[in-house]
Amino acid sequence: MARIAYDNWDAAAFAATRHLTDEGLSAWREAVTRHIDPRPGMRLLDLGSGTGHWAESFTGWFAAVEVVGVEPSEAMRARCVHQPMVAGEATRLPLADDSVDAAWMSTVIHHIPDLGVAARELRRVLRPGAPLLIRSAFAGRHQAISLFRYFPEAVRVLDTYPSVAEVETAFAAAGFETVAFGAVPQVTATSLRAAAAALRREAHTPLQLITDAEYAAGVARLRAAASTTTGAVVDALDLLVLR
Ligand SMILES: C[S@@+](CC[C@H](N)C(=O)[O-])C[C@H]1O[C@@H](n2cnc3c(N)ncnc32)[C@H](O)[C@@H]1O
Repeated sequence: MARIAYDNWDAAAFAATRHLTDEGLSAWREAVTRHIDPRPGMRLLDLGSGTGHWAESFTGWFAAVEVVGVEPSEAMRARCVHQPMVAGEATRLPLADDSVDAAWMSTVIHHIPDLGVAARELRRVLRPGAPLLIRSAFAGRHQAISLFRYFPEAVRVLDTYPSVAEVETAFAAAGFETVAFGAVPQVTATSLRAAAAALRREAHTPLQLITDAEYAAGVARLRAAASTTTGAVVDALDLLVLR
């Protein structure tokens, strides 16, 4: 069970506002390319693919790689821009043993009810030595994400997400070791004004889980800042790489 519903309402908001541009993702492209070897015939799992924009980016970046999406929400799958996208979830992967050469999870780890079970499932489907790339906002790591500047109450939600150490511990029990960790920047919006205009509460788990009054106060802070701030909105999320 995810922290939010990922029903039609959430999925429509996510599809409308959370797809980043290829230019905005250039540092992510470099970071991902450092850890996977995109050779022909390789199979990459995008777990918790959502509306499939990462799977589509990988397909564009790594032409010879087969990208398979697995996503539990029917509403997200219905809006998915990538195929194949199959129904499934992290604690019960619909994939054969040793059938995947790399796995990617973007902003999914905090929705998984049992990290230990998911770690064992990923160990089962990944070939020995294959990398698992986890992109996330981890507990305690809100500082480089602009949303939390305007919605500081949402930090208390983020702080209930798994920490880096908790994820490492759960995955170590299944045989994974950390090979890299660090923040990767991205252009989230061309301007704060554009970010404020596009904001949809349903597209962000931490904003759904604060109070209406807290959300309203944050929108007011964001709009006030947007009227005086120039330049692109650049955020950084973490990339944890395990093998
Ligand atoms: C914030 S969205 C991220 C979507 C996509 N990875 C991205 O970055 O654009 C979180 C996604 O995780 C999915 N999810 C929730 N629980 C999951 C689970 N137990 N296993 C796999 N995916 C899950 C949700 O349905 C949702 O599509």
